[in-house]
Amino acid sequence: MRSLSLAGLALAAACSAPLELPKLDEVTPYAHPMDLPAVEGLPELLTLSTGETVRTQRDWQSARRPEIARTVEHYVYGAAPEPPAEVRAVRMEECMTEDGKAWREQVRLHVADGVWIDLLIYSPVGVKSAPCFLGLNFNGNHATTHDSKVMLTESWMADSRGGRDGAANDEQRGMKAERWDYEQALAKGWAVATFYHGDIDPDTWVTEDGIRAPRSKSVTPGEHSWGTIRAWAWGLSRALDHLIENPRIDGDRVVVHGHSRNGKTALVAGAYDERFAGVISNHSGCGGAALSRPARGETVERIVTVIGYWFTEAFWSFADREEHLPLDQHFLLALIAPRPLLVCSAIEDDWADPLGEYEATRAAAPAWELFGVGGFETTGFPETGELVGSMPAYHVRDGGHSVLPEDWTLWIDWADRLVR
Ligand code: GCU
Repeated sequence: MRSLSLAGLALAAACSAPLELPKLDEVTPYAHPMDLPAVEGLPELLTLSTGETVRTQRDWQSARRPEIARTVEHYVYGAAPEPPAEVRAVRMEECMTEDGKAWREQVRLHVADGVWIDLLIYSPVGVKSAPCFLGLNFNGNHATTHDSKVMLTESWMADSRGGRDGAANDEQRGMKAERWDYEQALAKGWAVATFYHGDIDPDTWVTEDGIRAPRSKSVTPGEHSWGTIRAWAWGLSRALDHLIENPRIDGDRVVVHGHSRNGKTALVAGAYDERFAGVISNHSGCGGAALSRPARGETVERIVTVIGYWFTEAFWSFADREEHLPLDQHFLLALIAPRPLLVCSAIEDDWADPLGEYEATRAAAPAWELFGVGGFETTGFPETGELVGSMPAYHVRDGGHSVLPEDWTLWIDWADRLVR
């Protein structure tokens, strides 16, 4: 479905080595999901599998964090391969924008055989090495802006996203521009980088294309193989590899953010790649910042039935059995400690379960406390518009499931204060 350009053909050869997927069962003996006992309440964040209590940063970093990281990938998202030995970056375009306020760069990153990311970067003119927001988009880079110089994605595009016969087209240009407030970020000295999540893995059950396609795999998919969310998160890390090398960007201040499924992915990227300096999830809901138990809004059963390819097959076994999960989403959030995390909800977005997002953030907070940073003292679910906690932080606004300019205002203010 995806046609390689001539330049792409020449360069893709550099990345033809198969990706090695870790075999999780060989690392730690895990129980089969169907044999796991029901857990009363939430699984304990600070209790090691040996039953010992985690009291210090050192216990966390050396023992509990690795244990949680493995459990979360084993049962929910799957494990990702190591970074490829070499990612060829081809600068497809670089120019100042017409208004003279930003540099626009379009860089193609060849991450595996026949798989590339087209990274769009806007950075503020006159700022030397700007901090940067990095996030995935749903409809192609060209849909995030009315800037006609942005290339159409060559990756498969569902008709439901504005594609025609599986391809991107000019009519999609700017269709999601209101969700990408480049102007505000640039005016405040931030760069913004984005790529289409379909460049890494198509958002569909069919795996003919993308990084999880059989030709990119070195092992037969099993019940703990990576799902699409982990693959997208791996792609974000490849974009970060580039941003770290990019002289216009401050590689120590890259905040990964995302809305909805891309918010789930931002959390996974931040959890497994400690080079991300901060993480923002917007309305990420089930399989993201919201607890799986109690089941409110979208349930595990619903998500694995309709969009199960986002997760491991092991996760499918918890449909209607979430009380048997040996983890909950506060484990994922805690992997981000001690770096800044901001969880955002919208009060009318019942599907993403604002209360479950708040409770997961609160339940993850003890991980930050071990580092003596921040805190999450609240008097309960906050009023809309009130930012609670510092590390981690939680915010719920009025309205529904979307990204608004006021969300960017909140993110930039928060990042200006905490991401250094
Ligand atoms: C669906 C899905 C959610 C997801 C959302 C989105 O509603 O059920 O889990 O977050 O799509 O990504 O827009």
